Amino acid sequence: MWYQTKASKILGIQYPILQGPFGGNLSSVELVSIVSNAGGLGGYGAYTLSPEEIIQVDEQIKASTNKPYNFNLWASDTDAVDGTVSDEEFKNAERLFKPYFDELGIALPEKPAPFKSRFENQVEVILHQKPPVFSFMFGVPSADILEQCHRLGIITIGAATTLDEAITLESAGVDLIIASGFEAGGHRPSFLTSAESSTTGTFVLLQLIKEKVKTPIIAAGGIANGKGGCCGASTWC
Ligand SMILES: Cc1cc2nc3c(=O)[nH]c(=O)nc-3n(C[C@H](O)[C@H](O)[C@H](O)COP(=O)(O)O)c2cc1C
Repeated sequence: MWYQTKASKILGIQYPILQGPFGGNLSSVELVSIVSNAGGLGGYGAYTLSPEEIIQVDEQIKASTNKPYNFNLWASDTDAVDGTVSDEEFKNAERLFKPYFDELGIALPEKPAPFKSRFENQVEVILHQKPPVFSFMFGVPSADILEQCHRLGIITIGAATTLDEAITLESAGVDLIIASGFEAGGHRPSFLTSAESSTTGTFVLLQLIKEKVKTPIIAAGGIANGKGGCCGASTWC
């Protein structure tokens, strides 16, 4: 059967189709459970959630499906090392965006207060709640976190925008790799080089990674239906 791929076996799902987890409070328990109950893998983007909120959402998902589902975090969730953007950097960004805000008649936002990475506390709750699948973007969690996931039976999925990132994820021992083409969701989860220099399209990236990496790959970006899909990979859409 076309749908019995390595990815669907590893994930314990019927169809190798993964719902892209949307961060920024755009995911819903309802959609996650509908996708998982239909045989795909529902995904919840939780990078803005507090640890307590992650527990609540996880309990709600567990109550609405007994099928595998995925929780997603950002392994690196601040733009600056210590969470601080300088006044000059902020002014430069303001200059770039001002014409768009002016066009829409919206005031530019104030510079937000610096914030610390939430990933460490969030991941502790993931290890406690043990969702069937844990995916992440913008980097690779520590070897200790990945080892704990494997020990607890949590399947791990990392996102790559280049071949080098896929090789890094494979060396770290993740179970599955998302090949995130430049079409994917309008933003790049790059972590080894800049997003601007990691803009290979989905289907070329897929072939580049397939040649060098043995870990099963999931294609993400610009796939709207079966005709636009691809052979030999699962889909994250
Ligand atoms: C609004 C929005 C938010 C997203 N947030 C996340 C996220 O938090 N984590 C993640 O792994 N992917 C995120 N993505 C990427 C999707 O999971 C997926 O890879 C991408 O949308 C696939 O490309 P497509 O939209 O062309 O199908 C987001 C995409 C969009 C459009």
